[in-house]
Amino acid sequence: MGMLAELFVILLFVLTAFGQYNYNYYNDRDYDPEPDDEYPPAYHFNPNIQYGIPHVPYVTDCARECFCPPTFPLTMLCDNRKLKTMPYIPAHIQQLHLQFNNIESVTAKSFINATNLREINLSHNKLMSNMIDDGVFAKLPHLAQLYLHHNNLQEIPSPLPNTIERLFLGFNKISRLQRNVMQGLVNMTMLDLCNNHLDDSAVKGRGFSKLKKLMQLNLCNNKLNSMPPDLPSSLMYLSLENNSISSIPDKYFDKLPYIHTIRMSHNNLQEVPLNVFNVSNLVELSLGHNKLKQVFHIPKSLEHLYLQDNELEIINATMLCPTIDPMNNYRLTYLRVEKNKLKASISTYVLFCFPHIQSIYYGEQKVKDAQNPILPQFPMPHDHEEEEEEERGAWPVIHEEEEEEEEHGGIDHDDFNPYSY
Ligand SMILES: *[C@@H]1O[C@H](CO)[C@@H](O)[C@H](O)[C@H]1NC(C)=O
Ligand SMILES: *[C@@H]1O[C@H](CO)[C@@H](O)[C@H](O)[C@H]1NC(C)=O
Ligand SMILES: *[C@@H]1O[C@H](CO)[C@@H](O)[C@H](O)[C@H]1NC(C)=O
Ligand SMILES: *[C@@H]1O[C@H](CO)[C@@H](O)[C@H](O)[C@H]1NC(C)=O
Ligand SMILES: *[C@@H]1O[C@H](CO)[C@@H](O)[C@H](O)[C@H]1NC(C)=O
Ligand SMILES: *[C@@H]1O[C@H](CO)[C@@H](O)[C@H](O)[C@H]1NC(C)=O
Repeated sequence: MGMLAELFVILLFVLTAFGQYNYNYYNDRDYDPEPDDEYPPAYHFNPNIQYGIPHVPYVTDCARECFCPPTFPLTMLCDNRKLKTMPYIPAHIQQLHLQFNNIESVTAKSFINATNLREINLSHNKLMSNMIDDGVFAKLPHLAQLYLHHNNLQEIPSPLPNTIERLFLGFNKISRLQRNVMQGLVNMTMLDLCNNHLDDSAVKGRGFSKLKKLMQLNLCNNKLNSMPPDLPSSLMYLSLENNSISSIPDKYFDKLPYIHTIRMSHNNLQEVPLNVFNVSNLVELSLGHNKLKQVFHIPKSLEHLYLQDNELEIINATMLCPTIDPMNNYRLTYLRVEKNKLKASISTYVLFCFPHIQSIYYGEQKVKDAQNPILPQFPMPHDHEEEEEEERGAWPVIHEEEEEEEEHGGIDHDDFNPYSY
């Protein structure tokens, strides 16, 4: 009985501790039909960190206020404990969880012996830039992940160690970036600066291109009026939702050959250069809630195109798809065009152009004189011979209605929910 109870306790430890490891990263297959209204997920790039086999068989050393699970001897859990100051950190700790406390300051003393730290979660605290000693994080020679979202930071703590890979700074009050803040951060893959106060002058000349391995840059919910200059060519995911960007320079994305996802919903785009998004690896393009008056060329690689809530009066299919090449088809599967000013249905040409199309959200339009909704005049399956049907595969679902969520009462659920990855 005693042994059983012990086993149970151990199991409980394993489960709780494992829960901490089991971060709910975005899974590509859990595709959300309306990602552009949500906070960009952190794509998981397999961080290089190896937490390794514990060198210490059993260490009792732990801060009084915290919990060090015996099953994960390199982790110290101090989250949700109303802490006002940094606890003592034993030298062997690699993962430190301090989220949801009231910590305002980080001093040189805080990490004095904790040189093995790989990952620090200080999110949801009260950190202020002037109460973080210069270079405290730089002294941690293995630090790879730093979570500082939901604090009161006015700038990025600097300098940072050049081992840093993922840096989360969303929901702060950052309005300036120090000139050399990106210097030497050669292994950074993810930089999250959403929900801050950054404007054009704050990001200009700040050397994002020095982040040679950067894959994801989040600048959503800031105050940008133009596209951030000088991005590194490694970039794959760019999040710029809810700024005030009104134009995109011609060939802007040509310098980003790996770009996979561009999210720019809730901006002020009226017109874009016709070929600006024709970049060969682009898969997702979200431009909902802008003021676009016409469509543009898209690359064959594009799968998801979001154009809802713009000023489109016509979807020029020839523009989207100038040529049909059965040997090299467009891969578009998902198209949203509701809440525009479309008066006519989308041409059937679209179906031939985009043989993989699965869903088209046409929905209600913003024009008064249109008889809403206008159903695109797609040929129905029964008009065709079975053979042909089989060849083409499933017919697209044409949604006249708004998104399901909207039917269920949510308006456009614009509250970006950041850390529900
Ligand atoms: C740091 O390590 C040194 C040497 O092991 C030890 O004497 C000192 O007490 C430690 N300080 C803290 C704050 O842990
Ligand atoms: C850090 O804390 C946040 C809460 O703000 C939590 O959602 C996240 O999973 C934590 N991340 C890690 C890697 O510990
Ligand atoms: C960057 O990552 C590579 C590969 O994991 C590693 O070998 C290198 O030491 C890292 N550089 C720095 C400065 O941490
Ligand atoms: C856009 O960002 C502002 C802050 O810059 C915020 O107040 C607002 O709620 C955001 N809008 C959406 C749709 O998220
Ligand atoms: C789009 O880019 C591809 C590849 O660079 C090119 O072959 C094609 O002509 C471009 N499309 C248009 C409409 O310019
Ligand atoms: C559609 O786009 C094509 C190619 O850019 C252009 O020649 C044509 O005039 C456009 N049609 C309309 C109705 O705007």
